[in-house]
Amino acid sequence: MSVAAVTLAGMAVTADEHSEEDEHAEGDGKPAEDLPTLADIDSPEWFRYGDTMAGIGFLTVARRLPGLIRQALGMAWQASPRDTVATVTLSLLGGLFTAFGLLATTGVLTALFEEGPTPDRVRAALPSLLLVGAAATIRTTLQAGAGWAQARLGPQISRISEERLYSLTSQVDLVCFDDPQFHDSLQRARLRGMAMADMVVDTAIDTLTGVIGIAAAAGVLGVLHPVLLPLLLLAVIPDAWAAVRSARMGYATDLLLIPARRRKWIITELLADKDTAAEVRTFTMRGFLMRMYDNVARSEQRVLLDLARRQTYARVVGEALGGIGQGAVYVALGLLLAVGAVPLAVAGTAVLAIRSGQGSLANFMYATNRLYEQGLYFTDFLDFVAQAEARIPAQRTGKAPSGFQRLTAEEVTFSYPSSATPALRGVSVHIDRGEVVALVGENGSGKTTLSKILAGLYDPDSGRVLWDDTDLSEVDPHDLRGNIAVIAQDHTRWPLTARHNITMGMEKGETAVVHAAEVAGADQVIEELPHGYQTLLDRRFKDGQELSGGQWQRIAVARGFYRDAPLLICDEPTAALDARAEHALFDRIRRHADGRTVLLITHRLASVRYADRIYVLDHGKVVEHGTHQELITLDGLYADLYNLQAQAYRSA
Ligand SMILES: Nc1ncnc2c1ncn2[C@@H]1O[C@H](COP(=O)(O)OP(=O)(O)OP(=O)(O)O)[C@@H](O)[C@H]1O
Ligand SMILES: [Mg+2]
Repeated sequence: MSVAAVTLAGMAVTADEHSEEDEHAEGDGKPAEDLPTLADIDSPEWFRYGDTMAGIGFLTVARRLPGLIRQALGMAWQASPRDTVATVTLSLLGGLFTAFGLLATTGVLTALFEEGPTPDRVRAALPSLLLVGAAATIRTTLQAGAGWAQARLGPQISRISEERLYSLTSQVDLVCFDDPQFHDSLQRARLRGMAMADMVVDTAIDTLTGVIGIAAAAGVLGVLHPVLLPLLLLAVIPDAWAAVRSARMGYATDLLLIPARRRKWIITELLADKDTAAEVRTFTMRGFLMRMYDNVARSEQRVLLDLARRQTYARVVGEALGGIGQGAVYVALGLLLAVGAVPLAVAGTAVLAIRSGQGSLANFMYATNRLYEQGLYFTDFLDFVAQAEARIPAQRTGKAPSGFQRLTAEEVTFSYPSSATPALRGVSVHIDRGEVVALVGENGSGKTTLSKILAGLYDPDSGRVLWDDTDLSEVDPHDLRGNIAVIAQDHTRWPLTARHNITMGMEKGETAVVHAAEVAGADQVIEELPHGYQTLLDRRFKDGQELSGGQWQRIAVARGFYRDAPLLICDEPTAALDARAEHALFDRIRRHADGRTVLLITHRLASVRYADRIYVLDHGKVVEHGTHQELITLDGLYADLYNLQAQAYRSA
């Protein structure tokens, strides 16, 4: 690669000229110019706050602040009322004792600046000195207590916000997961919003602590002499300016780098993930990926080095101005002393108060800025929670029938969100109790979608699904699902033990587990595992085992049979099974799967011959239905597909 000139949000970043040919000699031989640069990574969704943050002044921030603090404290209160009260009260008391300590200092200084021999002056100062010491001890203790309570809030808030998020994601309508907007909002809430919850509270408390500190210093100065108050401003503004400016630069850079970091993260996942490890090697992707990584990482590094330079500059300027401000304060104090407006002891205390106020104000400004920034992301979290709460299916009170004589879909139509064409269009099917009914059709014809509607996972857009006379739209879905077992086409490989992969947390005893495993041929798989049923099926953990695709499918089938529900939906249950296991399973299904009603979806047409009825789907519609013999006689789509498969065997 030569030079990658990159423009990102108006900032020019030029990657160093460096020779990579030697470093990453292996690889795809693609011209380096084709590699993505930061500019290609621009992802508008992740920039949504770029403009928000760039154009705002301090006033905008200040206006949003009370609302944010209220929200944050509300969250803290939810997590732990006791720790919230403790944090706020102890911080307030801490501020009070800061002020008290400062005022007591005046007593010390007054006694010390009196006329007379030194031992006498020190003796006179002793009571005040003791007060200063006591105030400092109490203040430190209070602040430590406040810090402890504040630190205790963090983990509690993290826990409740995580629980809130994941309790919602596991409750929302399944169809949400097919909605890109929902995903996007979920992604933002998970990746940044959720983590912000405890930080927002932390920062909100820092803001409050800052205010308390400033109030304490200002209060002391006001008590000493009102004219001292403006001096506080003079002293703190340059530092505050530098703190805010530096924080803003940091934040702007962070925003700028979000897409690049995300890209880098995606590439590192590809380089370090188990699922991609094999293909990274078979397709000799390493060189290509490393170059892509290096390209992004170098650009990021350049931006960060630039940031470090600019932040140092801002700090130096801030400190220089701060020095000038300090000078002005001393000059002003000197003048006040000269004209006799304040006594020397008061001037001494004022210097201390100004220093303490300075520190508090810098903290306050910094916290405010961060609070605003974090508030933006925190709002993402709150938005997602609101959105998800609105998408939890309404409570249905109807009880699911314990069984059925006939299961009917009437004129069912269904479209996935943001999909222009419906996946199902006016589909009517019925399944009688004890039957084996097959759904066949080409890829994408709507078989899986229909099975999910029959299982009550999706609600049809129009039409009805009935269990005898009960409309599923009135039935509590949780209750209904107890009556249905699904062997899904894209079954999950649960990172649990083999046993839990079959029982899924529903305990029915050893015999049931072993029986279900036998049906699916999973018993042979489990026998060979080092710890039998207790073997963890996840290679990423110590003592974990990995299974082959077909072995996993056997486990998934066992899971379906274990559930012992009156309706069994098998969606491509044999796609990965070997001939013997497939034969055994279909044989079982043909014999009505031990009394269950079976909805069978498969491309192995030889196995649907025995079904009581076959529905042929094409582009979301039922185009043919009947028994195998009827459909062969009809000589339509089914006969076509069947003959194609049969021919392949005959000619062999
Ligand atoms: N989650 C989804 N979001 C949007 N569209 C989807 C989704 N799942 C499926 N589709 C679309 O709906 C249509 C029907 O898909 P479905 O999965 O029901 O087909 P299928 O008959 O089961 O196919 P296959 O034989 O490949 O399993 C397809 O056009 C598919 O692109
Ligand atoms: Mg399917």
